[in-house]
Amino acid sequence: MKIRISVGEFRLGKREEQALMEVIDSGKLSEGRKTYEFEKAWAAYIGTKYSVAVNSGTSALIAGLFALKEMYHLKNGAKVLTSPLTFIATVNAIMVRGLTPVFVDVDPQTFVITPEKIREVMKREKDIAILLPVHLMGYPVDMHEVNRIAQEFSVPVIEDAAQAHGTLLKGKKLGSFGDLAIFSFYIAHNIQAGEMGALTTNNAVIAKLLKKIKAHGRMCECNVCTRSKGICPPLDSYKGKEDFDPRFYHDMIGFNFKIMEFQAALGLSQLKKADEIFQKRNMNVFYLNEGLSDLFGILRLPLYSKDVSYLAYPIVIGDPKKIDRFTLRRELEKRGIETRPLFGCIPLQQPAYSFMKKEYQGKLPHAEYIGRHGFYIGCHQYLSKKDLDFVIKVFHEILA
Ligand SMILES: Cc1ncc(COP(=O)(O)O)c(C=O)c1O
Repeated sequence: MKIRISVGEFRLGKREEQALMEVIDSGKLSEGRKTYEFEKAWAAYIGTKYSVAVNSGTSALIAGLFALKEMYHLKNGAKVLTSPLTFIATVNAIMVRGLTPVFVDVDPQTFVITPEKIREVMKREKDIAILLPVHLMGYPVDMHEVNRIAQEFSVPVIEDAAQAHGTLLKGKKLGSFGDLAIFSFYIAHNIQAGEMGALTTNNAVIAKLLKKIKAHGRMCECNVCTRSKGICPPLDSYKGKEDFDPRFYHDMIGFNFKIMEFQAALGLSQLKKADEIFQKRNMNVFYLNEGLSDLFGILRLPLYSKDVSYLAYPIVIGDPKKIDRFTLRRELEKRGIETRPLFGCIPLQQPAYSFMKKEYQGKLPHAEYIGRHGFYIGCHQYLSKKDLDFVIKVFHEILA
């Protein structure tokens, strides 16, 4: 059957079309004015001093961990405490930076790691070097407590806020709590740019380091040249440094994580309707919860909060004897409702991490249960009341 209720959707409206045309007309495709504008706008939206755009959320994670490894002189193999229930990129980034992931179990209702479990492991292991909480599906980790623990144990915090664009925690947006944070604007996320990521921080040293890391470790201060004015300062402005061209001198090893102006333009046009997107998704979750409330028990419906920016509508099977995930997903898809599994518990259920299976066997019961029995459907801003009523009707038909 044709998909009627998609997990996510991208619509190219007039605003997006115009933003893309502006890039074409400018004749500049690689990073420039739009990227600079997006970085300023994203930092303002999240409430941090700085934001650095990169070509994906995964690159943002790699760059962020690279920066922390440099700043804190961490050795290969240093431990990063994180969530076992996340999109694989979080943990892949830890591994490719030569660090070691350490997992703690998640809260069964909000899918995120808890301060109690974090503290327990910090006390036991003593050599955790970085905290990397993940705000899954838009739900916030308790960042006030996480920061308290980080201070107590003198470790930095990097938030993975890839799935939490705009979620509020006591009035402050996620992504503004840690030493730094990462976001993804992948097409399936609330603010969409196709492929793009960003980091946010209040620390000028980290922001500067990230700009170097994302651009080959070059010595350029991009904000002075290509970003704001479209030109580099004249070479003779580097007094006492004859023949010095900072674009081609590199004082550290870096990557190419730069973006195209198109992505920044899309990000900017979407950001203008960020509040509208947030509200619509949030209200859709509320409406679905009301309509499905009598199925509580068979299904665990998402916890509702007006402050959460929902990535999707997550559901966990409450009674696998009544219906299992495979059957329910198959029946939903047959009737035109697209579904996705809730990522899997990385050390126990992801084949790439099977080398960790023995170490974590039986130690992550909530993540393991959700990884096996959790899935999500769309709650995006293009769903109408008729669409939501259709979803409610289909669930009742299947589970009658
Ligand atoms: C929690 C989380 N972290 C990181 C990423 C990686 O982002 P990207 O796909 O932009 O590389 C994603 C992507 O969905 C994600 O959900």
